[in-house]
Amino acid sequence: MKIGIIGFGNLGHALAEGLIRSALIEPGDINIYNRTATVCQNATAKYGVFACSDVNQILAGSDIIFLVVKGYALADMAPSIDRALLTGKTVVSFMAGMDFAATQALIGKVNLVRAMPSLSIATCDGVIGYTAAPETVKNILEHLGYAFEVAPEDIEKVTAFSACGLGFAAYLIDAFASAGIQLGFSPEESTKIASQTFKNAIDRGDYKNTVRAVATKGGATEQGVLHMDSQRVYDIVANAVQAAYDKMV
Ligand SMILES: NC(=O)c1ccc[n+]([C@@H]2O[C@H](COP(=O)([O-])OP(=O)(O)OC[C@H]3O[C@@H](n4cnc5c(N)ncnc54)[C@H](OP(=O)(O)O)[C@@H]3O)[C@@H](O)[C@H]2O)c1
Repeated sequence: MKIGIIGFGNLGHALAEGLIRSALIEPGDINIYNRTATVCQNATAKYGVFACSDVNQILAGSDIIFLVVKGYALADMAPSIDRALLTGKTVVSFMAGMDFAATQALIGKVNLVRAMPSLSIATCDGVIGYTAAPETVKNILEHLGYAFEVAPEDIEKVTAFSACGLGFAAYLIDAFASAGIQLGFSPEESTKIASQTFKNAIDRGDYKNTVRAVATKGGATEQGVLHMDSQRVYDIVANAVQAAYDKMV
């Protein structure tokens, strides 16, 4: 099975790395399109994949094609795409904010799956929501992390909550690390302590109970939690996820 990856930016790299790491796909069975020749040369040198700047060559040599460019980039490329090369193949769009109609208006009525991964597919540990898909595609996505099916109208919820969410999670840990720096810890120590503390919270699993277990009545943690409650941190986080969602629908 030959895999085509159209676009080799942040997520295209993550997809190629995840596919290779999963051992499901050999590097030689990965075909990458990128408009910039040096990016293609680097991809071949680093991963042993085939890469070139002729999109139709990549489409011709691939059985399943992943769209990993932004919508405006696909619009730029669309006039040069030979639609006949997509006949009978499955196209998996990772593009946020591009619904079925918008994508099919650019490349024709192809067999289209929408899937929304986080960058952590690079380590086969991502979160991936996908619309109804053939077993071969499901199998690939399941090798890249926690994969689950959603209704087409819910795919941007996955984008906001988990794809954007990885950035939000990193933001919150970085904010916590900054608090350590303000207390006088070095940036390195603060990052390590913040990372370990978030990891410990994740490992405990039951977050509400962990808050209760640490924030005992009259203690110091309670003061910090009361402050966060007074600043409506739950609302701030929910509004951030909502803002990301609203941008796409
Ligand atoms: N990053 C994430 O965490 C994430 C998560 C979920 C979904 N997505 C989706 O994945 C897609 C790619 O995101 P990304 O973060 O990988 O973006 P990116 O790092 O900015 O990469 C964009 C890619 O598109 C190419 N490109 C830009 N304009 C082009 C044009 N006019 N014609 C042909 N190619 C063009 C770039 O090629 P050059 O190298 O030549 O510039 C690059 O390969 C987007 O649709 C995004 O919504 C991203």
